Amino acid sequence: MVRLTQDERAMLAGDQGPAVQKAMQMVNALATIFEADHLVPVASAQIAGVSYKNLGPAGLSFLEEWAAQGARVRIPAFMNPAGMDLERWREMGISEQFARQQRRVVQVLASMGVEQSCTCTPYLAGHVPEAGDHLAWSESSAVSYANSVLGARTNREGGPSALAAAITGRTAAYGLHLDSNRRATHRVTVRCTLKSEADFGALGYWVGQQVADGVPCFRFVGEGRLTQPPTQEQLMALGAAMAASGAVALYHIEGMTPEAGHACTEAGDIMPIEVGDLSPAYDALNHPLDDIDLVSLGCPHSTVADLERVARLLEGRRVRAALWITTSRYARRVAEQQGWVQRIETAGGHVFSDTCLVVAPIEELGFRALATNSAKAAFYSPSHSGLQRRFGRLQQCIEAALTGRWSGGRLDG
Ligand code: F3S
Repeated sequence: MVRLTQDERAMLAGDQGPAVQKAMQMVNALATIFEADHLVPVASAQIAGVSYKNLGPAGLSFLEEWAAQGARVRIPAFMNPAGMDLERWREMGISEQFARQQRRVVQVLASMGVEQSCTCTPYLAGHVPEAGDHLAWSESSAVSYANSVLGARTNREGGPSALAAAITGRTAAYGLHLDSNRRATHRVTVRCTLKSEADFGALGYWVGQQVADGVPCFRFVGEGRLTQPPTQEQLMALGAAMAASGAVALYHIEGMTPEAGHACTEAGDIMPIEVGDLSPAYDALNHPLDDIDLVSLGCPHSTVADLERVARLLEGRRVRAALWITTSRYARRVAEQQGWVQRIETAGGHVFSDTCLVVAPIEELGFRALATNSAKAAFYSPSHSGLQRRFGRLQQCIEAALTGRWSGGRLDG
């Protein structure tokens, strides 16, 4: 039985109107299903299911009906990527028909008060939760980063349940909102050297497959010993890959992430996993392709530092394959001020915001062979986008963009 406060009971009874009542019915139903005995106030909500490719006509009607009932968010809420760059969709080759429907989705969410941020990296665009904050976030890599690196608390919400949380300001207290579920279930000992985001993504892909929805605690030893802390981009790649190949929403790194101290030592019965070689992960994420017609970077969305690195690698050169870099509006704006976007575009690349390879209707755009440095994008691209793919380090991807060919081997750096 879920214990509701007086205010929550009033919402459920319809005292605050039908839109809030519907939202509280959803939150309460989830609490019942997951045997939560109470609800918790949430500090912010990140709403997935923004891409019309995933939402479809039924989802759009559902949102429009809810908005017509007067649905409004009462806490900060922000959108996950849409199916296109909301300004430069023609440059992507998106059809007028898709664009019209996509704009309706964004407009209806905006009418409810959801910020049109359209990114899976809200923590890099002004929405940094405090450690211990309860959240209702829904994109899996953002959930992983918020839980693991920032020490906030969120389950992986569905789009509608995150919106219901935003409308009521509450979510059910179960899963990763509870201390007991934040302890490590697996100890992952990494004995091989990791040099790049792609290596961290390959590690995440491999570990996600082993631990499913467990909570891994990483220890880097021997050749795998980290000489410096992983970069923000490497942590993003690690979490995104584990959330894609498994359903990992929280991980710890000994001596580094905020809860590792007690979550790894008080774990009790814990499964050991040894990783001594990343080759099996690279093999699993590579089709035997030579010709590349699309290079996609920015899954999770590129940081300003990523854009700078790409701009420097492209200096004075011109791409042959399509090069798409997806990022947040915020990062794009900062990178524009610093001149990185212009340098990428001078080389023939595109920097798109609001969207990404996985949620855009890529399958309609005629591409066949992808190169990416994202294990998550490599994992999803065959099933979600109908693409054969190559997965490797940034330098290999840039080389593929410049030549239209994939070079073998794993380059350093
Ligand atoms: Fe983000 Fe899209 Fe990748 S939402 S994590 S860029 S699949």
